[in-house]
Amino acid sequence: MKGIILAGGAGSRLHPMTTAVSKQLMPVYDKPLIYYPLTTLMLAGVREVLIITTPRDQPAFRALLGDGRRWGLDLSFAVQDEPRGLADAYRIGADFVDGGPSALILGDNLFHGHEAGRVFAQAGRSLDARRGAVVFAYRVSDPRRYGVVELDGQGRALTIEEKPSNPRSPWAVTGLYIFDGQAPAIAASLRPSARGELEITDLISGYLEQGRLGVERLGRGFAWLDTGTPDSLLDAATFVRTLEQRQGFKIACPEEVAWRMGWIDDAQLARLADSFGGADYGAYLRGLLTAG
Ligand code: G1P
Repeated sequence: MKGIILAGGAGSRLHPMTTAVSKQLMPVYDKPLIYYPLTTLMLAGVREVLIITTPRDQPAFRALLGDGRRWGLDLSFAVQDEPRGLADAYRIGADFVDGGPSALILGDNLFHGHEAGRVFAQAGRSLDARRGAVVFAYRVSDPRRYGVVELDGQGRALTIEEKPSNPRSPWAVTGLYIFDGQAPAIAASLRPSARGELEITDLISGYLEQGRLGVERLGRGFAWLDTGTPDSLLDAATFVRTLEQRQGFKIACPEEVAWRMGWIDDAQLARLADSFGGADYGAYLRGLLTAG
């Protein structure tokens, strides 16, 4: 399965912080925001990733991430010149996915939970003639801010709506989606919504109408955070700091994930650690080699 990270958008709710710098490069405690969705894909076993940014921000993402080879990844880049909506990712990424399955993750979504990678990888493997797409639902206190999925008694999707004023359920659709090779064709057929965007919920509805949408509910042991406002960005940073300080492990460290996945060896991790000189981040990576 390939992966797409959508890291475009103006980040206007974070202005002036994002007036000159992409939202997905903002720090979440000790690393740039995009490391979180990137490592979520990595933990799900995804190594080939397309990163979609604004034209202005692409050089900065390239400077940060490079071609991904040092983390055992194959990263490529594309631009979204106007914020035309999330489903536009599959117009831009049609050649990249090349008829195969893919995971789309929003560059500002942070997932953390026990065995999250296994859950997401398994959903990817479950795509077949019956299940063409899988979305992950998460119970939230304010569903009006999100895409909302209504479920029947068996957990099957009945309806899906974007930011409804009267939500039919508390289940938000999180910013991680797994689609089969049909996604570009459905995206190509979409029309902009009333707010002028190609809505991801309309792309998902395409699968729902075919009876081919799976919904996985993420339980309360999972954390799903978004980072679109100053408060939610600070909440996410505090969450990461609390867990990291308590456990002594970093969340969303691409070097560590690549090493634990077996994509880079001890010598490569040691070289990456040295590239950080005296920074704490390098000391953390060196520590992994002795403590495991
Ligand atoms: C987008 C999607 C929405 C989804 C949310 C998750 O909303 O349109 O369906 O629930 O991401 O973060 P946005 O945050 O772009 O307003």
